[in-house]
Amino acid sequence: MKITLSVIKADIGGYVGHSAAHPEVVQKVKEVGQKAVEDGLLIDCDVLVCGDDIALVMTHTHGVDSEKVHGLAWKAFEEGTKIAKKLKLYGAGQDLLSDTFSGNVKGMGPGVAEMEFEERPSEPVVVFFADKTAPSAWNLPLYEMFADPMVCAGLVIDPKMHEGFTFEVLDTFTGKAVKLSTPAELYDLLALIGTVERYAVKSVWRNSDGEIAAVASTQRLSLIAGKYVGKDDPVMIVRAQSGFPAIGEILEPFARPWIVEGWMRGSHNGPLMPVSFRYATPTRFDGPPRVIAAGYQIAEGKLIGPRDLFDDPAFDKAREQAQMIADVLRRQGIFEPHRLPSEEMEYTTLPKILAKLEGRFYEAEAGKKGPSGEHLDVD
Ligand code: F6R
Ligand code: MG
Ligand code: MG
Repeated sequence: MKITLSVIKADIGGYVGHSAAHPEVVQKVKEVGQKAVEDGLLIDCDVLVCGDDIALVMTHTHGVDSEKVHGLAWKAFEEGTKIAKKLKLYGAGQDLLSDTFSGNVKGMGPGVAEMEFEERPSEPVVVFFADKTAPSAWNLPLYEMFADPMVCAGLVIDPKMHEGFTFEVLDTFTGKAVKLSTPAELYDLLALIGTVERYAVKSVWRNSDGEIAAVASTQRLSLIAGKYVGKDDPVMIVRAQSGFPAIGEILEPFARPWIVEGWMRGSHNGPLMPVSFRYATPTRFDGPPRVIAAGYQIAEGKLIGPRDLFDDPAFDKAREQAQMIADVLRRQGIFEPHRLPSEEMEYTTLPKILAKLEGRFYEAEAGKKGPSGEHLDVD
């Protein structure tokens, strides 16, 4: 059976501040999703929470970009927003950037990851969900899962994976994408996706037969709204086993924390901490950024699960290391490289501060100047 797995998420209000979602809001979103299952629009629906974000995990047969399914998600978030407003939760309805739904939630605030595939005899998938970070947070783990044999042994051992995977990489500034096949174009891929402020992996495909392997949400709220309206707190779907990376190969990148952008005011670099569902409530300096992993077996479109995959002591060390990295970075306060570089601050106050001070800058040193200096061409 060909099914579509759609994960659509939004921050529709924080409890308290930006640290978590309120149970009543989550319940309302669940009810709307459940009603859509009863009405036959969806085969199944589950709701995940990470920090102040709520995700609908939906299975159906309407394909990707379905107006009906996107409309349903929008409705669920609208209904949730009503409760968030009643409780005066923080930033109630913040990711619903438009007053009315117009066919597709993309470009309207919510994040979307969805894929259509023929359900295999057994179909294990993992839905990752992160808070206080950006879509490019998935670049490094996707590379490790699908292109680094030191992490994913299956690339060497499993004949179905041996031909590698193709990465679709989005330039989030222009909206253009490029497809790069690994291992042949691995270094080109890394040259792009190492530039996390600009490029984000959108999807991954298996080379041997063109099967979809992974899809990530790549919406960037600031580029949609033109100003800082919260980080994008991305979701990602990864298919597992028999010709795809094993569950353990998919989770392995998260066993060694790395640094992502986001955290406090979306303006800081910090470690991505893998946590069980109950610890997905970032509070220290509004962080550090969190990621949860929800495992499902899909059976005739039904979501069997979720299993809380980071609820495993084997990830304790990663959590401990993330705490240590957090301490070192926090020592840096408002200084780079803990605070993001100036180009990344362009949707916050920095341009305003520079505009205010513009007339007060004076010629203090003669000779060559920096990147925007007029004196660079001295002979
Ligand atoms: C980051 C985030 C929080 C807020 C911070 C300030 O993604 O959501 O760190 O940026 O709590 O929030 P405001 O400006 O709403 O007071
Ligand atoms: Mg928020
Ligand atoms: Mg959030």
